[in-house]
Amino acid sequence: MLTRKLAILFSGNGSNMQNLIETLHQKVFQDSNKQNIKLEVAITLCNNPSAYGIKRAQNLGIPCIIISHKDFSSRCAFDEAMIKALESHSIDLCVLAGFMRILTPTFTQHFPTINIHPSLLPAHKGAHAIADTFNAHDPYGGVSVHWVNEELDGGALITQRSVALESEDTLETFEHKIHALEYKLYPIAVLQALNLDITSLQDSPQENQ
Ligand code: GRF
Repeated sequence: MLTRKLAILFSGNGSNMQNLIETLHQKVFQDSNKQNIKLEVAITLCNNPSAYGIKRAQNLGIPCIIISHKDFSSRCAFDEAMIKALESHSIDLCVLAGFMRILTPTFTQHFPTINIHPSLLPAHKGAHAIADTFNAHDPYGGVSVHWVNEELDGGALITQRSVALESEDTLETFEHKIHALEYKLYPIAVLQALNLDITSLQDSPQENQ
């Protein structure tokens, strides 16, 4: 059976990484010709040696490469080290899941790369998107998945879904809603990025009621 290989890059907690592994790793999906394609999370990579996500990857039995960006004098040198480390794994798609470094074109031109961002882009780019949406009293927040280019949170959108910010929401309850939406949307977006059929991961009509 044909296999498509993923690398997941993260910097911290790693809950999206764990969810992607549990939802996609070693699972079979279909391409547009109804051909079966197995997904494999071949490797994870973390730039922060004290990240909790490293433990999650270990517990899930997926190898994790640790490369601290602090050991490199430039973004480019760090990106080149990551490329070198990932090269032997025949990666089809790099998936950023809370990876807190801006990538250079050196990296994104080498590996197709996608990212998840917890806002309705282009609104609220940057590292505090959930709090920024909450504090702006926007009627809706959301989650966006996009291709990564050299502009922060700026590449072409793959998919986006909204969630209501209700008057009774606290920052905590709103964050919880956003993360729940991330866990639903990111696996679907990975399939979309790979041109695979998303039907098996979509909500059943009952779930939508
Ligand atoms: C998520 O909210 C993601 O959208 C953002 O960083 C957070 C990572 O959380 N890019 P986790 O490490 O996956 O728990």
